[in-house]
Parts: sequence; C-alpha cells; structure tokens
Amino acid sequence: MTYTFSEETIEEIREKNDIVDVISEYVNLKRTGSNYKGLCPFHNEKTPSFVVSPSKQIYHCFGCSEGGDVIKFIMEYQNLDFIEALQLLAERVNINLDDKKLKRNSKENKKRKRLFEINREAAIYFYKNLFNNKKAYNYLLNRGIDKKTIKSFGLGYAKSDWEDLKKYLKTKGFKENEVSEVGLIIKRKRKEGYFDRFRDRIIFPIINTRSNIIGFGGRVLDDSQPKYLNSPDTPVFNKGKNLYGLNIIKKNKNDKILLVEGYMDVISLFKYGINYAVASLGTALTKDQAKLLNRYGKKFYICYDSDKAGQLATDKALEILYSQGIKAKVILLPENKDPDDYIKDNGKENFNKLLKKSLDYIDFKIYYYKKIYDIDTVEGSINFTKKITSLLKKIKSTIEIDVYINKIAEETNISKEAIKKEIYQNKKSYAKNREKDKYIYNNYRNNNNKEKIVPVNYTLEPGHLTAERNLINLIIKDKTIYNKIKDEIKPKDFFNNVYRKLAEIIYHKYNESDDMKFDYVKDKFEKEEMKKVKETFDMENPMEGSEKIKAVRDYIDKINYYKLKLKKQDIKEKLKQYEKNESKEGDVEKFNQLCLQLISIEKQLKLHQ
Ligand code: CTP
Ligand code: MN
Repeated sequence: MTYTFSEETIEEIREKNDIVDVISEYVNLKRTGSNYKGLCPFHNEKTPSFVVSPSKQIYHCFGCSEGGDVIKFIMEYQNLDFIEALQLLAERVNINLDDKKLKRNSKENKKRKRLFEINREAAIYFYKNLFNNKKAYNYLLNRGIDKKTIKSFGLGYAKSDWEDLKKYLKTKGFKENEVSEVGLIIKRKRKEGYFDRFRDRIIFPIINTRSNIIGFGGRVLDDSQPKYLNSPDTPVFNKGKNLYGLNIIKKNKNDKILLVEGYMDVISLFKYGINYAVASLGTALTKDQAKLLNRYGKKFYICYDSDKAGQLATDKALEILYSQGIKAKVILLPENKDPDDYIKDNGKENFNKLLKKSLDYIDFKIYYYKKIYDIDTVEGSINFTKKITSLLKKIKSTIEIDVYINKIAEETNISKEAIKKEIYQNKKSYAKNREKDKYIYNNYRNNNNKEKIVPVNYTLEPGHLTAERNLINLIIKDKTIYNKIKDEIKPKDFFNNVYRKLAEIIYHKYNESDDMKFDYVKDKFEKEEMKKVKETFDMENPMEGSEKIKAVRDYIDKINYYKLKLKKQDIKEKLKQYEKNESKEGDVEKFNQLCLQLISIEKQLKLHQ
C-alpha cells in the first residue's frame, strides 16, 4: 500500500460509522441495558457473550476475547487490512476517499531509506572485516561454515575497538544520531558521545523479504556473556514481526518451512542443503511471526533444542501456530542437541529421516505431557489423561479421536471407556471435575484500589503450581538465582499458600545466610503441608548455566501470566455482577471501564504467549 489517510479522515470514518449500526449488519444484536449483545461471529457459541458498547464505540467478546473498534471489527470480520477496511466503511457512509489519499509520508519513506543505507554500509564493512581477521574467520571455519555460506548470509565481524564502526560510518557521511537510530551505536551515559554496540563479535545481518537489512545479531567468539546481542527495536526493525532467514525462504520457494531457535541453526542447515529454515529472533514465537510464516509456506515443522526449555518453547510455538490455523509438526532431536549440532554430526539424510518421523500436534502433546506428568503415579496419569483429552476435544474426526484413545490407554493404565467418558461428557461437568485445585482468593495483592472485590472461586492451573514449585526449588539450590530475581518476584507473588509461606522463610533466611537447608523449615509447616515442602526440596534438577536461567525466566513468566489470568477472571466476574444490576444509573461508565481494563489485560496476556 503506497498511500494512507490522515488522522482526521480516519476519525471522520469512525464517527460516521456507528458501531452498533455496522455490527448489526452482520450480527443479530439485542439491547441489554445500555449495551447490545449477540452471538459472537469470531467463535462458535450458543449463548451470547459478544457485547457492543454504543457509548465507547467498542465491541468485546467474553468468550474468545476478540475486541476493538469499528475498524478492527471490519478488518477481522471481512479479513481486510486497515486501509481496505477504511475504504469499505467510507463507502458505506458516502465519504469519497479519492482526493483524501495521502502518499505515504514521503519524508518518512526517505528516512527509512536512509536508515537502510546505514545498515547496508555497516554490513558491508563487517563483511570485509571478517576476511581481515583471522580469529573471526577461523571461528566460523571451525564451526563448519565455509566461504560460500558466509557469503550467502553476509556474515561479518565487528572489531573490538569501542568506536570503530562509529568512525567508519562518519567517513561515509552518516551522523551519529542517525546511526544511533538503527541501534548500531549507543549514547554514553556519563560522558559525551557514542560507542559501538557490537564489538568483537561475529555479525549476522537480519534481512527482510525486500532485501533490506533491518537489524543485526552479534555472537561472541568465546564463552563470554551475553552470547548474543541483537539490534534493539528501531524504526526499521521490530523483533516480534520478523524472522531470521525469511529472505532466503522467499528466494528459494519451497512449500516447507522449518522453524528453529538460532541463527547458527538456520545457517548450518542451509550449508547442508536445507534452505527452508527460519529462526524467531531470540524471543518466543509471536502471532505476527506465525502470520508471516503462513504467507510463505504450506507445510510447517518446528525443530527446537532438545533440552527442557526448548521443548517448552516448542509447545508454546505449536499453540501459537495452531491459533493461526497452522498445523505444524515437531521434529525431535536426540538429547542435548540443536539442529546445528545434529546436522553437523549426522548429515542431511539423517535429518530428513527425523523430519519424516516428525510428530503432529496431538502426538507431540502426548510425548510432551508424558514427560511433565509422572504417569507412573495414579495422580500423574489422571492429570495426563485430562490434559490430553481436553486437547482431543478440539478434533472433529471421531475416527482420529479413536486412534488417540487407544494410544492414551496404552500409555496409561486408564481404560478406553473412562477416557471416552472424559472426552464426550458435556463441558460443564468436565469443568466441575477438574476443580480440584480450587482456591478462594478474595483480594489482590498489588491492588491499590480499595474497592471491595467479590470473593470468587478461582481454578489454578496445574502449570502454575509447577512453575511456583520449580522456581522455589531452583532458588533453594542456588543462591545466585535468588540474588538475581529477589527484586522481581516476591513471596507475595506466589499464589499457593504453602509455596508463599515457604518463599517467605527462604527469602528471610537468605537475607542473613548463604545456604538453605530443609532443617530451617521443617517445623514451620502443618503435617499435610509438609509433603509439598519436602517434595520442593527433594526435586532433582539437572539444569545448568544458561539453561537454568532460561528456565527461571520461563517460570517467572508463567507466574506473571497466571497472575494476569486471575485478574482477568476477577474482572469478568465483576462484569457479570454489573450485567445483573444493569438498570442502575452510573453503572454504564463502570462497565465500560472494566471492558477497557479487560482489553488491556488481554493485550498483556498476548505478549506472554
Ligand atoms: N539468543 C539471543 N540472546 C541471547 C541468547 C540467545 O538473542 N543472549 C537468541 C539467538 O538468536 C540465538 C538463539 O536465541 O541464536 C538460540 O540461543 P542458543 O540456543 O543459546 O544459541 P545457539 O543458537 O545454539 O548458538 P550457538 O550455536 O552459536 O551457541
Ligand atoms: Mn547451537
């Protein structure tokens, strides 16, 4: 799209298209108090949970969390981009857009071009450096990367001087403030001036599908930390919306796309003839990246590290892809290997064999949750079966479901009949059954607002408890972990009573001493609490170094994620109360406020995915 519209034009379109009128053309809405309600067009439902607020001009579905303004509705409903949605809405109210088209800000375009030029100049410079620096060049050769591959990816080397690139780009006529805008140099805190972001690192240029260099990654040549540095988000680079290697995918047109974790995985696979790998840029896969993938491939595979963190990331990526209608398969690697290691040791043929054996959605879930729940115990196998059956409910084909029922029955000691019952009983009683871990939670810590909160029963998910337990276990085993995270996560952030109390004791103890023994806590808990405490102390934890740090991050993430989820449940509960008393004056504003809060929480929740 080479044009856009001014803010005023967009506002005019929004104002003239009343949201209730527009949505009524697609959805049967009924007035309930000050709002309108109907069956949500974005998911299947029998009782309406889709609410439209005329005063705020927003819609929101409490079932599937879709929500936004009238433009967003049209974009989602008609599957249009922003400009197309504006055009449809403008036509609807007879606004003629022809003379309102603005060239996409040509000043902005110029600036983008300039920033790309800086990146290109830097990349060429890094590339040349590489061949003049034995240490860097040999590092790559030693990792099995040859000259041809270096060329294909435009790999380079940033020298160790603090101002090397800065000075070079100056001679090319680029100003410091421009160069800092693409993140290649950083402003000094105490002194005047700037210094280079990447020093003494192998450089991986990140290139988009239009062949522009949008950012860089840089790896150290030894074991120092941080192993990788990346460009920050800049006007031309958004990590969550790009993928490393997409330029190569576009060039080589293959219907397969293989999602991996790291730069070196993409490059190594390429060298061995697998030219359809991309890596998410050092973060968990985002929805935007999934959408992007959808544009460039038909068959999708995930091949992450075989360690615990990698498998957790696989599970998350699988879900994100699934949410975008992508059914990816998972390639499993042997213990402690990433794709780079694997293909170097075993070659392309063997990799292709693994690819042929890749697991589909449910097969991966069975494999994964079998490891998470200890299915040799009764409780473990029940939890495992519940988890898998809840996923099986998504599958439409009963034949397929039957195949999986047989599989689960084989894996566990649970009879096929029991599994079937679990799958086919109606959702309500299913929900009842699993409310084993129920907590009454009636005030939010961190909640400054004094308003009384209705006591609600919350169901904590098993993953939440596991995250709390595992995090505490890591803290117990290693005080450096405690030092790292003590300001970020406090005892009060643990929801489970036992873990919260345990965290309080540990935090207190670590304050004055360096070790943590079971003896310190054993007389502080009730008998029935003791089992959980003992288990937390006794858990074996084979993780080390960066893997451990990754896991800690994941656990904290999870705890924060559930905190948001509980907050969401709470707001929903309050909204229900308002719905019941909706005739009362003054409630409209409150209701709308809550809706907005809910939308904001859902946005935050999406960031966690
Ligand atoms: N990553 C990052 N910042 C870090 C560590 C990792 O951005 N401090 C990203 C990089 O994109 C990296 C990917 O996460 O490629 C995977 O990290 P990791 O598995 O630790 O590294 P490898 O890709 O295996 O790197 P190498 O083989 O060079 O050790
Ligand atoms: Mn690696």
